[in-house]
Amino acid sequence: MYLLLDEKGNSYLINGEKDFHSKYGVINAEELRGKNPGEVIESHTGRGFFVLEPGRLDYIRKARKGPQSVTLKDLGLITAHTCISSGSRVVDAGTGSGIMAMYLSNLVYPEKLVTYEIREDFAEIARKNFKKAGIGNIELKQGDVYDGIDERGVDLITLDLPEPWRVIEQAKESLKPGGYLVSYSPSINQSKRLFDRLKGFRSETLECLSRGWDMETVRPHSRMLGHSGFLTFARLVEKN
Ligand SMILES: C[S@@+](CC[C@H](N)C(=O)[O-])C[C@H]1O[C@@H](n2cnc3c(N)ncnc32)[C@H](O)[C@@H]1O
Repeated sequence: MYLLLDEKGNSYLINGEKDFHSKYGVINAEELRGKNPGEVIESHTGRGFFVLEPGRLDYIRKARKGPQSVTLKDLGLITAHTCISSGSRVVDAGTGSGIMAMYLSNLVYPEKLVTYEIREDFAEIARKNFKKAGIGNIELKQGDVYDGIDERGVDLITLDLPEPWRVIEQAKESLKPGGYLVSYSPSINQSKRLFDRLKGFRSETLECLSRGWDMETVRPHSRMLGHSGFLTFARLVEKN
């Protein structure tokens, strides 16, 4: 796979199997296959594109989106407050488009990440996203996570589904003492309902606001993503 960057900063993730038609002209596939990361390729109209090797973030940005995905700012907060890393055992539900799973599986590698999705159509979107990104350490289980979590000794369970309080008992079985349950909910009512039922956990709810700056005018952008979701972090302290 190749990542092409045009003069306006637009990026294109392409496999290099056939010529790529952009608004700045056609990129020849054979010529592209001869390029190394960091080199420039010219379209048939002479416009330059940087050639880069795509990283996990590029695959996440270009992934096919089904249901609403978790945002990068919230993914950052999740990892900062749980400190998961290579070898951590993580279970995720629901998979949706698989963005959370793609991001976290990169951190826990070579450990496998398990993700549960109830809907076959969304599972299919996620599987395609994992395949395109060449990810081998995600196990997608199709099923209802409210019915139970098979995994034990887990460091982190991430939830992005409508009724996270229905996973509390399963999470208690699955998490190791000191492990984290993190739930992402668009509505504070969902977060409150979860929070009030979290017995045996030390919990807090956070929201992350992120504002970009225009560095030409040196002013903050007047538009920003005002709200994505609330994150409840619950650390298991008492198993029973
Ligand atoms: C908002 S999406 C998750 C997006 C995902 N976190 C991402 O970053 O791409 C919620 C997903 O949860 C799934 N879901 C809802 N209830 C579920 C359940 N009980 N068990 C498993 N998956 C469930 C839905 O089908 C949907 O795909």
